[in-house]
Amino acid sequence: MRHGNFSNEPEQRFSWRVLNALTPYLWEYRARVFLALLFLIAAKGAILVIPFLQKYLVDSLDISKGPSPATTVLLFLVIAYGLARFANTLFGEIRDTVFGRVTERAMRRIGLQVFRHLHALDLDFHLNRQTGGLARDIERGVTGISFLMRFFVFNIAPTIFEIVMVVGILLANYGVSYAVITLFAVTAYGVFSARATEWRTQFVREANEADSSSNTRAIDSLMNFETVKYFTNEEFEAQRYDTELEKWEIARRKNRLSVFTLNSGQAMIIAVAQTSMIGLAAFQVRAQEITLGDLVLVNAFMIQLFMPLGFLGFIYREIKGSMANIERMFELLAVEPGIRDADDARDLEISRGELRFDNVTFGYRPDRRILNDVSFAVPPGQKIAVVGASGAGKSTLMKLVFRFYDPDAGRVTIDGQDLRRVTQHSLRAAIGIVPQDTVLFNDSIFENVRYGRPEATDDEVWDAINLANLAQFIASLPKGGDTLVGERGLKLSGGEKQRVAIARAMLKQPPILIFDEATSSLDSKSEQAILAAIENISAGHTSLVIAHRLSTVVDADRIVVLDHGAVVEQGSHRELLTQDGKYAELWRIQQAEARNRPTAPDLLVGDAG
Ligand SMILES: Nc1ncnc2c1ncn2[C@@H]1O[C@H](COP(=O)(O)OP(=O)(O)O)[C@@H](O)[C@H]1O
Ligand SMILES: [Mg+2]
Repeated sequence: MRHGNFSNEPEQRFSWRVLNALTPYLWEYRARVFLALLFLIAAKGAILVIPFLQKYLVDSLDISKGPSPATTVLLFLVIAYGLARFANTLFGEIRDTVFGRVTERAMRRIGLQVFRHLHALDLDFHLNRQTGGLARDIERGVTGISFLMRFFVFNIAPTIFEIVMVVGILLANYGVSYAVITLFAVTAYGVFSARATEWRTQFVREANEADSSSNTRAIDSLMNFETVKYFTNEEFEAQRYDTELEKWEIARRKNRLSVFTLNSGQAMIIAVAQTSMIGLAAFQVRAQEITLGDLVLVNAFMIQLFMPLGFLGFIYREIKGSMANIERMFELLAVEPGIRDADDARDLEISRGELRFDNVTFGYRPDRRILNDVSFAVPPGQKIAVVGASGAGKSTLMKLVFRFYDPDAGRVTIDGQDLRRVTQHSLRAAIGIVPQDTVLFNDSIFENVRYGRPEATDDEVWDAINLANLAQFIASLPKGGDTLVGERGLKLSGGEKQRVAIARAMLKQPPILIFDEATSSLDSKSEQAILAAIENISAGHTSLVIAHRLSTVVDADRIVVLDHGAVVEQGSHRELLTQDGKYAELWRIQQAEARNRPTAPDLLVGDAG
């Protein structure tokens, strides 16, 4: 399998690969990162001073140890204390503000990179993926990046630095016991957190999976809003969604219980350490080995140390979660498109515009063949029609010309150049397609037509609209061309959408045109008008017209009859009728149908598209 390397959920582990991938983004703004680090150090400096100020304040007030302090000294200590507190917060804020730019730029870069990559992947990948889940994965990955950058740089490293400083200070001023207790507590805390987090991973993963799948379910259901109504399946949809939500709820419950275990374990380690240190200090004060101020200092350091430590546990968890999310996004980035430009690919050069299928055999999956040894040519400037029953493989031919897929055997060429040897961009720029099912952007009709050539002038867009017989419809709309078409173009009828698609293709003005049942959703009258328009623009163009209704292609230079993926007949309408084969049979059936429904399909309710 081409996409087999895309596993569902990466392992949650500490990943240097992810950290490495982030360095270029940090490096890009190295001055800013450096500045932010300076403010970080300043903030940490301020916070390390606070316990000392508290100690001196308490000691100077302890009149059993000497005279009461001078007003200036007292004021100095109080103001210094206030300033240090404020400086700590302020520097922290400045640090975040300065660094914010770095993370946002990285998020933007990576978001864009993923987006481009998704567009570079082949159709097959997208047909096999759920858009809702994909969007969630990207969102989580990008958020993970911002999280990781902020917290690795500004929490893990500084907290370790702070621990070392505090242990050093305690060791230097109060002997081994405090330092040992602190070190012991920090180690126990670290080991316990790591173990517990490891154990929790499965619950986090379950919760994430449940989150993605309930989201996918909801989006899929809402995208099929109309279908749900046709079958009054609201309750069924709600049930299915609720099944997913229930899984999510259960996963979250397990997750919460595991958080509880983790947090209470951590709290216990901290409580034991704090109790022993305060106890030790209290006895030392009573024995007059240290002052009351020292007890305050030790206590202040303890609180300061364990606060970020508690946070560190949370951050460690989050970082691993973020890494898993980023890994998942990276795996997405690592998926190679099945269709890619050859290393020596050149731009397609069109001289006459001859399209050929040479012994093309193809299947979407290895176990089911769709096209079988198909050979025919679309000579330059001619109009060739492909007809055949639904499912015969007609649209598949178009997908091969557009190189959404490569043939398994044989080749498709334009002016003698194998499509596999030219760049996809030049190939696709040379082909205009009016697809069988047109999906529109949620924008105005006018802008949807302009999409065919974004730099086209308004006049050119109007020309295309006129040619596609769309002008009258637009004139009937209160808002005209500015009318919004709704998501995927659902506010337009099938025929209107097809005309937008035709106008788009006309605006693109490519040398080769492919119409895939382009008039299937139109009534006979509009169809005639469109056929005339197609006639106009396809004059002098190479065009391939795929049709189900034979009456629309009688004038083609040649008609290729496809049956179960093989060419069974080809020739002009007249020749094929004389041959009295498959085509003649289809023709008779369709003529008879037309006689039985004289005014059809105008009288049909709704439309086919
Ligand atoms: N992406 C796909 N993956 C697997 N099978 C597909 C895919 N697209 C189309 N098919 C199958 O290929 C066959 C031919 O489809 P198509 O070329 O669309 O027929 P038509 O002649 O009606 O345009 C159909 O049986 C269809 O189910
Ligand atoms: Mg088709």
